[in-house]
Amino acid sequence: MVPDIVKLDNAILHVGKDPVETAFILAQEMVKYFESVSSNRKHVYLAISGGSTPRTLYQLLASEEQFRDRIPWRKIQLFWVDERWVPQDHPDSNFRMVKETLLSRVPIPDFQIHPMPVASFPPEDAKAKYERVLERMFEIVVGSRDLPTFDLVLLGMGSDGHTASIFPGRVAESLMKVSTWVECPFVPQLNSRRMTLTPVVLNAAREAWFLVCGEKKALTLKKVLKGRKDPLNLPAQMIRPRGRSPKWFVDVHAISELDF
Ligand code: 6PG
Repeated sequence: MVPDIVKLDNAILHVGKDPVETAFILAQEMVKYFESVSSNRKHVYLAISGGSTPRTLYQLLASEEQFRDRIPWRKIQLFWVDERWVPQDHPDSNFRMVKETLLSRVPIPDFQIHPMPVASFPPEDAKAKYERVLERMFEIVVGSRDLPTFDLVLLGMGSDGHTASIFPGRVAESLMKVSTWVECPFVPQLNSRRMTLTPVVLNAAREAWFLVCGEKKALTLKKVLKGRKDPLNLPAQMIRPRGRSPKWFVDVHAISELDF
């Protein structure tokens, strides 16, 4: 019998029996968290990931009354953690996926939705554009000591240990060193470009939560959580929001290689 919560030295795991239950647990935590941070705030800042795992979460947030009606959508400034280098209507677009599963069904004002401006500009222009949006929304200046401080960053993890678009090897090595907020790396493993928030910004967040499900992530999750520190090959290990451990929302399949 797997407990609902597993405490490791460096992580707390919220465990669901399958991807739907795990997403449900995360959605419940989101409601509690946003109710606690949003009461005396004009805006709350959320950065979300794409890929396939979070689809279930976004569908739940939009369909289940207890989430749709309790998350302060009208206060949320919504950003993306990363984006594929495709138009917004492309089947691979993270923006398109979030628009279809969530945005078309919750009352978040259009002017508070900030998709990454990929594919229609050269990388340097696209990066500068998104940094301008971050400057405007957080009322700070790039290059100052201030950083965009998200209330919550929702992350996934690939079976290669990547998170956001921080892929193992050269991309991780370059992104680990930068003080910029956004980068548009060419990812050799994908033979394509991405736009991504950088580790500096992800780790300035108040909270960073991972949603990881499925057997194919199990071995990598064990290495990330219990293996030696190797962030260049396991970029998910780079994520330590304000020096603390991220929260993990995992299903029993993803933790099947962990001993606890
Ligand atoms: C993306 C995501 C990416 C994702 C991982 C895991 O653009 O694909 O932002 O970082 O979180 O690749 O993806 P899955 O959840 O689909 O396994």
